[in-house]
Amino acid sequence: MTKRIEVAGLNAYYGSHKAVEDISMTMEPRSVTAFIGPSGCGKSTFIRTLNRMHELIPGASVDGSVALDGQDLYGSDIDPVAVRRTVGMVFQRPNPFPTMSIYDNVAAGLKLAGIKRKGDLDAIVERSLRGANLWTEVKDRLNKPGAGLSGGQQQRLCIARAIAVEPQVLLMDEPCSALDPISTLAIEDLIALLKERYTIVIVTHNMQQAARVSDKTAFFNLAGPGQPGKLVEIGDTETIFSAPTEESTADYIAGRFG
Ligand SMILES: Nc1ncnc2c1ncn2[C@@H]1O[C@H](COP(=O)(O)OP(=O)(O)OP(=O)(O)O)[C@@H](O)[C@H]1O
Ligand SMILES: [Mg+2]
Repeated sequence: MTKRIEVAGLNAYYGSHKAVEDISMTMEPRSVTAFIGPSGCGKSTFIRTLNRMHELIPGASVDGSVALDGQDLYGSDIDPVAVRRTVGMVFQRPNPFPTMSIYDNVAAGLKLAGIKRKGDLDAIVERSLRGANLWTEVKDRLNKPGAGLSGGQQQRLCIARAIAVEPQVLLMDEPCSALDPISTLAIEDLIALLKERYTIVIVTHNMQQAARVSDKTAFFNLAGPGQPGKLVEIGDTETIFSAPTEESTADYIAGRFG
């Protein structure tokens, strides 16, 4: 199920502005890869190229390749909508559909995928909510609006919605930055469970979080304002945090900039 992501020579643009330059790296299945780096270095831009969401922004474009187990996601025969189902995404601010019930939030993508039988939907909704470690908290109020949950619960609801369609990769762009420390730890515990089944990529500004949850860490940086972001180095998280190769990585991790 879970897949390897291989990126080669990737550039991402907003109009003529190159935001991300020449990224080549691999994200391993059944593991968590963390993206760290100062604001504006292109982490969000880059992560959105991994499920073809970047190109949804007017004027935005990508070149280079992103392969999922060898299949180029930017190939001419590839349906970007199918890519977004295979490569799920969770955003910084929990974004449940506010007027929809908890149940319908989780089931939304399933209905689009053609799963309509109530028994099937019930089973997948329960499995996804259990997978997101939210089931026991919401099982008695599945018909209440998603917006009535706490921030941390809403984020787990979004994770349940993302995993309901059985993606192979889960992208998370600062999934805890709007959450309190307890909810943050709940999401981190969940990531540790989910990585058994998914390839996970997480953007975080929280160095402790990167150290706690990830197997590999990629450090991105930019030479200056208006310059494109680049991958400085990627390695085992322990190595990146204890003995990085590049001085700028050590400086960033030590909080000397960014
Ligand atoms: N929708 C957009 N249109 C035009 N330029 C954009 C857009 N989104 C981002 N950019 C630009 O692309 C560059 C990279 O931004 P990006 O959001 O990817 O950085 P980031 O590393 O995620 O930063 P942060 O840590 O603050 O979230 C920045 O110069 C930013 O201004
Ligand atoms: Mg960002």
